[in-house]
Amino acid sequence: MNIFRTKSIELLKEEARTHSLRKELGAVDIIMMGIGVIIGTGIFVLTGIVAAKYAGPGLILSFIIAGLTCAFVCFAYAELASMVPIAGSAYTYTYTSLGEFTAWIVGWKLILEYSVGACAVAGGWSAYTVGLLKSAGMDLPLALTTVPAEGGMVNLPAVLITLFLTYLLVCGIKESTTVNKVLVVIKLAAIFLFLFLAGPRVNPLNWEPFLPFGYSGVSAGAAVIFFAYLGVDSIATSAEETKNPSRDMPIGIIGSLVICTVLYVAVAAVLTGVVPYDQLNNAEPVAYALRTLGYQFGSALVGTGAVCGLSTVLLVMMYAQTRAFFAMSRDGLIPSAICKIHPKYGTPHIITILVGMAVALVSGFTPITVVAEMCSVGTLFAFLVATVGVVVLRKTRPDAERPFRCPAIKTVATLAILSCIYIMCNLAYATWVRFIVWTVIGLIIYWAYGYSHSVLNKMEQLTRKTGKAF
Ligand code: ALA
Repeated sequence: MNIFRTKSIELLKEEARTHSLRKELGAVDIIMMGIGVIIGTGIFVLTGIVAAKYAGPGLILSFIIAGLTCAFVCFAYAELASMVPIAGSAYTYTYTSLGEFTAWIVGWKLILEYSVGACAVAGGWSAYTVGLLKSAGMDLPLALTTVPAEGGMVNLPAVLITLFLTYLLVCGIKESTTVNKVLVVIKLAAIFLFLFLAGPRVNPLNWEPFLPFGYSGVSAGAAVIFFAYLGVDSIATSAEETKNPSRDMPIGIIGSLVICTVLYVAVAAVLTGVVPYDQLNNAEPVAYALRTLGYQFGSALVGTGAVCGLSTVLLVMMYAQTRAFFAMSRDGLIPSAICKIHPKYGTPHIITILVGMAVALVSGFTPITVVAEMCSVGTLFAFLVATVGVVVLRKTRPDAERPFRCPAIKTVATLAILSCIYIMCNLAYATWVRFIVWTVIGLIIYWAYGYSHSVLNKMEQLTRKTGKAF
């Protein structure tokens, strides 16, 4: 029984040949892409909840800790992404470095990043839309805009936006670079408008006490707010499309992380400076703060920017999930029938509809913090394993071509692994229990289906029968 069989880099290159990507990205494109996918629910929604429940104004430190962790991981990850020339995810990379079983576990955790992450984004989208409608004089009933745990029946706007985007994905909509750039500008404009209006109204007394929940609160906050950096891995995966990876990747990664971290820290400082942290426990804190200060119109503008920004993050996350499933089905680990391509639209419609329905269901009935924490733990785990994979490949495949080499790999990988573990240790007990249950379900599926249906398994069996290598 060989559960650690690896998919060779050569085989992946072969698969990638049919859809090789053009090398046309420069450092600025990477930074724009990074900001496009990173900034979303984290800043527009979770800042308030984390300040109120975990870190207080110390949220600023939580953002810095999470940002540093991402920087270390991203450097290691970019090496892997540039080596394996297929636009894939941690799942594909792990298959080549640590083998099928670990790859399956990583793929299973990626569901937490993409699908569960999408649920949190849909929740945030709903909160801002409801807030906007309210400022326009349309008060939607609480029962239809809030999940049961928070006193409602269903978060209907979250369900509806998810189903609408699912429809677009089935029809084959792709996020174009131009649309992405426009949305990035709108998102940034919303954030700057907030800083411009609320910045001068900061009352430093609101920052006292700075750490109402102590350092443990800051660490717990970093674990939840890690969500704000999610998507950062997609910067690394663009290495293959970069004109000069060894120069542009470090600039792109560090550039987008620094810009996002500076904006996050600035928003966290201003938000906790204008409204006492214990009043921020709501899902649209940025717009709420502006309303509290009397800027009704400014609040509506920022809310509109947030709704635009969150729509694209949601679309990208659901898209990424369907493509990750697609890669897994190509390897035989999940049934290929559910990843069939639609004859007219050319998209994997069945899996897209399944993902859309699951996201709609969860976002309609589950509170945002619960889903965001699950998402953080899954992503951190996938990052950690992928980083180990980079170190392993340096040993097992020193000869492989590396368009981007992570500088000081031993130090960077050690820091990446330790900081992921540190943040994971700070997640709530209930999150760990859910995470373990999720892992066990994944293991059962692998033993019951994936192991025997794996394409590599079938190739191995054929080799054994015929004596020929496939
Ligand atoms: N980082 C993305 C967000 O905050 C997922 O919405």
